[in-house]
Amino acid sequence: MSSAMRSTVTLHVVSSLDGFIAKKDNSVSWMDSPGDVYERGVTDDGAEVIQSIDCYVLGSRTYEHALQLGWPYGDTPTVVATNRELRSTRDSVQFYSGDLKKLLREVLAPRYRNIWLVGGAILGQSFLRFGLVDEIRLMIAPVTLGAGLHLFGDSGIEQNWHLKNVVAYKNGYLELSYSRRTIVS
Ligand SMILES: NC(=O)c1ccc[n+]([C@@H]2O[C@H](COP(=O)([O-])OP(=O)(O)OC[C@H]3O[C@@H](n4cnc5c(N)ncnc54)[C@H](OP(=O)(O)O)[C@@H]3O)[C@@H](O)[C@H]2O)c1
Repeated sequence: MSSAMRSTVTLHVVSSLDGFIAKKDNSVSWMDSPGDVYERGVTDDGAEVIQSIDCYVLGSRTYEHALQLGWPYGDTPTVVATNRELRSTRDSVQFYSGDLKKLLREVLAPRYRNIWLVGGAILGQSFLRFGLVDEIRLMIAPVTLGAGLHLFGDSGIEQNWHLKNVVAYKNGYLELSYSRRTIVS
C-alpha cells in the first residue's frame, strides 16, 4: 500500500448493553435510531461520516439479512464475504472468498480509503483476530437482550484501544469511537 493511500478499517456495529448484535430470532426492533444528541454530548458527525465511507464490507449472513430488511448501503461499493455462490443483486456488490488479509491488501486497500466493516459477529471477529481493524465505532443500545449473537465472542487476541469520542443521546444510546493503540516497545 502506498503512503498516499492509507486506508482505515472501521468496525461499526450496534450492540445491546450486554454485548449482543442480534437476537436469536433475528428481529431488529430492539435497535432504534439514536435520536437527538444529548445537549452536553460531544460531536455529532453523523451525515458527514456516512458520506465519507468509500466501501462497506460484510459477512454473507449480514448481507442476506440486509436484503430482507431493505438495502441500507445505497450505491456505495460493498464487498460480501462468502464461500457460496450467492445471487448478485446490485452492481455495487462484489463477493469475496478466502484470505481476509489478502482481501484487505489486494482488493480493498488499493481502491478505498475509508472502509467500513459492518458485521456480523463472525466476520468482525475474524478481522479482529488478524489485527485488521483500525477503528471501532460501537453504538450501544440501552437494552439488555439476555441472549443472542455475541459481538466479540472469542476473537483470541488482546488489543488496546484509544477512546477518541463519545456521543450520548437523549434516548439512552451511546456511541463510542476507538482507534487502535499501537504499543511502542
Ligand atoms: N447490530 C448490528 O449492528 C449488526 C451488524 C451486522 C449484522 N448484524 C446481525 O448479525 C447477524 C449475522 O452475523 P453472523 O455473525 O451470523 O454472520 P456474518 O459475519 O454476517 O457472516 C458470516 C459468513 O460470512 C462468510 N465469511 C466469513 N469469513 C469469510 C471468509 N474469510 N471467506 C469467505 N466467506 C467468509 C461466511 O459465509 P458463507 O456461509 O456464505 O460461506 C460466513 O458464514 C444477522 O442477524 C445480522 O442482522 C447485526
